[in-house]
Amino acid sequence: MAESLSRGDGAVVLTGATGTIGSEVATLLCDRDISVVSVGRTEPPGDIHHVSADFTAPDTVARAVETLRQSERAFRGAVLCAGVDSFAGGDEFDSEAARTAVQVNAVSQLRLLSGVLDSDLTSCDRLFRVSLASTDLLSDPAPDAAVYAMSKRTLETGLQFVVEDFPDALAVTAVRLPYVGVPMKTVVGDAPEDPPLPSEPSISPTDAAAQLCNHLKTVDPGWRVAEAE
Ligand SMILES: NC(=O)c1ccc[n+]([C@@H]2O[C@H](COP(=O)([O-])OP(=O)(O)OC[C@H]3O[C@@H](n4cnc5c(N)ncnc54)[C@H](OP(=O)(O)O)[C@@H]3O)[C@@H](O)[C@H]2O)c1
Repeated sequence: MAESLSRGDGAVVLTGATGTIGSEVATLLCDRDISVVSVGRTEPPGDIHHVSADFTAPDTVARAVETLRQSERAFRGAVLCAGVDSFAGGDEFDSEAARTAVQVNAVSQLRLLSGVLDSDLTSCDRLFRVSLASTDLLSDPAPDAAVYAMSKRTLETGLQFVVEDFPDALAVTAVRLPYVGVPMKTVVGDAPEDPPLPSEPSISPTDAAAQLCNHLKTVDPGWRVAEAE
């Protein structure tokens, strides 16, 4: 079931707004007159409110939560598109790369979301929707992507616990996206000269963004996984 995304119902927190998929999400939301608050280390172009946070640095995430609280905005949901890639799960497990991937891809975004939900910024009579750009590698694992997949799994698992804390007020969808044809910008740990990426994209960044935005219309609370169509 879905309802329309109408203007004026609170802002959407967007991470990864400068990335391939997140910038498409920002465009789609802005085209629908939905106000977007970007949280990340780089300010996106255009007329988007931006709050600075580096997801490798927990203190900056805490400051971002405080800034969001002080803004006294109402929020209707979040789209989590920030992320780093890693190929450090093949022959040799790189624990430092794993630490960074889990910090950026999971822990910081969980802290950010919990901070927004714990504040009194979200109105209690409204369902708060979250879409996250997850990966089809969780459905179809690849050995070289073990660290990356572990970090995305951590985000999915963490969000399931957050949903348990807000059983009637939160609707979270993990959209397990396939390769969109553009490698992610930041790779943690050693990367091979020719990273083992699929040669053909199976979805465009625009379609990936549209699917993430569509899940912001969900009307039923709870946790769900959606394979990208
Ligand atoms: N690309 C794919 O084929 C694909 C497939 C399935 C799932 N996904 C998932 O989709 C999401 C978006 O992927 P993408 O291809 O759009 O990636 P991308 O182009 O590399 O963008 C990543 C975004 O994350 C931000 N980011 C990275 N490190 C950060 C940090 N330390 N602190 C704050 N922000 C940080 C980047 O900001 P900066 O501009 O500052 O670097 C950028 O906005 C990711 O979560 C990824 O796991 C991607």
